[in-house]
Amino acid sequence: LASGTREVSWEATVREQLDEIESALLAIAEADSPMVTEAAQHVIAAGGKRFRPLLVVLASQLDPVTAVAPIDDVVRAALVVELTHVASLYHDDVMDEARLRRGSDSANARWGNTVAILVGDFLFARASEVVAELGTEYVRLQARTFARLVQGQIAETVGPGDADPLQHYLKVVADKTASLIATSALFGAKVAGADPGVQRALAAYGEEIGTVFQLSDDIIDITSDETGKTPGTDLREGIPTLPTLLFRRHADPGSATDSRLLALLDSDLSDDADLAEALSLLRAHPCIEQARAEVRRRSERARSYLADLPAGPARDALAELCDTVVTRSA
Ligand code: FPP
Ligand code: MG
Ligand code: MG
Repeated sequence: LASGTREVSWEATVREQLDEIESALLAIAEADSPMVTEAAQHVIAAGGKRFRPLLVVLASQLDPVTAVAPIDDVVRAALVVELTHVASLYHDDVMDEARLRRGSDSANARWGNTVAILVGDFLFARASEVVAELGTEYVRLQARTFARLVQGQIAETVGPGDADPLQHYLKVVADKTASLIATSALFGAKVAGADPGVQRALAAYGEEIGTVFQLSDDIIDITSDETGKTPGTDLREGIPTLPTLLFRRHADPGSATDSRLLALLDSDLSDDADLAEALSLLRAHPCIEQARAEVRRRSERARSYLADLPAGPARDALAELCDTVVTRSA
């Protein structure tokens, strides 16, 4: 009973911190003009999993000795990573010509590309102001993370060239997604004053679970109609992801289904019926299960980084995330 009581109050603390982060996110998106405020709060208010803030909070709670992380710094660190993430989504939806985000109009669909890009810049400026309050070391880490985000996004746009497509894709995923998720876990450890070994383990965990997160996202882009985004966006944009890369690796030109799917993937898929056919052939193809198996393998690797960390509810919650990122369907 005693441990049950402790658990509930620990969960309540986490929930309280996440609520505080939620209000702070909306407050910091306020701008001089109501129109900019509305556009800047748009994607934040539309929801989102808040995966990065959750990692900051959990990582900051890991070590029972140092788990007295100043709440203001926890909130600041969470704001920095979530604002950076949201800013990158404003830009990403312009680049991907996405019309939907988190079940609402994307900012570019609502206000046009110019406003969407500049509002993304505005949110990134806000993130920069907050990270300055945490100190130089955080500013440096944030700058390096930003450089990885941008380079990942450029590499995705430019494509693999002569490099191996699967290796290229995994590097893109590490840079455009895993980098910021690793930084989220690292920031949480740092604000709690965790020792360097704990910081390293959490950063490695974040990098791996961040990769799993994006690989799952890319599978879901094909398999789910409930993401709040348009299914098949990657396919239509011609962006190869794990399922299609595995499909191409193992495609059997003798099979009628495989050659039809190859032809569709090589076409521009601007026709709705073609896109729907490609999606349905992919959904039924073993490459989806192969992709899921790779995701499970990596999520177990993420879990292994937690082995030497202090046991407790925060570590249990981080371990549980290894399951939820694999099984999530939206
Ligand atoms: C979503 O990928 C995009 C990213 C994870 C990173 C985007 C990074 C930039 C645009 C660099 C600029 C960054 C800032 C901070 C201004 P996706 O298109 O595969 O995912 P989706 O399905 O959610 O659209
Ligand atoms: Mg996108
Ligand atoms: Mg994109």
